[in-house]
Amino acid sequence: MAHRCGGALAPENTLPGLAIAAQFGSQGVEFDVMLSADGTPWLIHDETLERTTNGAGRVCDSCDALLAGLDAGIRHHPAFAATRLPTLHEALVQCRALGLAANIEIKPAMGHEVATATQVTRMVRAFHEGMAVQPLLSSFSEEALCAARREAPLQPLALLVEDLPADWQARCTRLGVIALHVDSAGLDIGQARAIKAAGYLLAVYTENSPSRARELFGWGVDSIITDRPDRVRG
Ligand code: G3P
Ligand code: CA
Repeated sequence: MAHRCGGALAPENTLPGLAIAAQFGSQGVEFDVMLSADGTPWLIHDETLERTTNGAGRVCDSCDALLAGLDAGIRHHPAFAATRLPTLHEALVQCRALGLAANIEIKPAMGHEVATATQVTRMVRAFHEGMAVQPLLSSFSEEALCAARREAPLQPLALLVEDLPADWQARCTRLGVIALHVDSAGLDIGQARAIKAAGYLLAVYTENSPSRARELFGWGVDSIITDRPDRVRG
């Protein structure tokens, strides 16, 4: 899976990133979703606009009209100038058109965990109504995952963690997730084998080394989330 749409090859969390991920053969993409002041889910990683756009201020305080006018490409490279921030709906349309599986990270601004998860889950359910394959919703926020589960009892969910906590299995059972997404740097073979033996899907982030990716796949890891989809392949 390409990380934040197209990894390092495009401005993060943008539609050109999705096209580049598909071009390099990614089967899926990971991207981050946060609510605007109007309650619309947009693709963006940070709670503030400054790092990745030409705007300023907090995403959760910004209205849709303001977000729609921002340049989300210029900070990555002038060649991507005038790239717009996409809404979740626009990204879902593009993923479907390109045949990309979506791993949608619910990235709530602090204090907006339940609202973000509820709105994202509703939109995802409506967009994929009646379809056999559903996207995966992932989050570091257990509060958000609980809210997503309340909204959609059958929605595939994944718990994101940095270091694997000792009680990972109890957390996964309580949350009803099908997958664990773990920081590649801290994962060892014993942990990977235990997660797989317990029946969970296992993804690691953010791994850009092809040799480490090969090792991880050898341990049974199901998916690598990478900034270099041109180098790291399943
Ligand atoms: O989904 C894995 C990864 O995206 C989590 O870290 O900071 O890139 O959202 P971050
Ligand atoms: Ca993410």
